[in-house]
Amino acid sequence: MEVNKVVGNAYKQAIKAQSNAYAPYSNFFVGAAIKLKGIEKVITGCNLENASYGATVCAERGAIQAANTEFGKPDIEFIVVVSNTEPAIGPCALCLQVISEFAQKDLPIYLANKNEIQKVITFGDLLSSPFSEIPKTI
Ligand code: THU
Repeated sequence: MEVNKVVGNAYKQAIKAQSNAYAPYSNFFVGAAIKLKGIEKVITGCNLENASYGATVCAERGAIQAANTEFGKPDIEFIVVVSNTEPAIGPCALCLQVISEFAQKDLPIYLANKNEIQKVITFGDLLSSPFSEIPKTI
């Protein structure tokens, strides 16, 4: 799909991050780029697997962690996720739950592979009812 220059630049950076993915177990290489409101620098992440499997960190959560570390609570404009799949995949449920602390329902998430950005979907469409508070015991 056609995108503007800012999204196109983030897509390029997500591809660069994807090239650093450490995924010897799944061979599933993912890069994520997060554009923050009012900040030019794009923050990226890649998936980082582990022999324990459970300690694996997805690209999206890596990028969120980096954004929060560098700029404090991220005010996200959009996210680009690049995978080596056809069709391109979106964030897993665990990542969506983490993103939910920093996202409005209309946050655009661009799904791409190395060939193209295939579609854009809102955070709210991917996770309409995030877990949002510790239930009160009765
Ligand atoms: N992965 C991501 O990086 N992001 C997702 O949203 C889905 C899954 C990674 C985790 C693991 O390294 C590999 O893809 C296979 O699940």
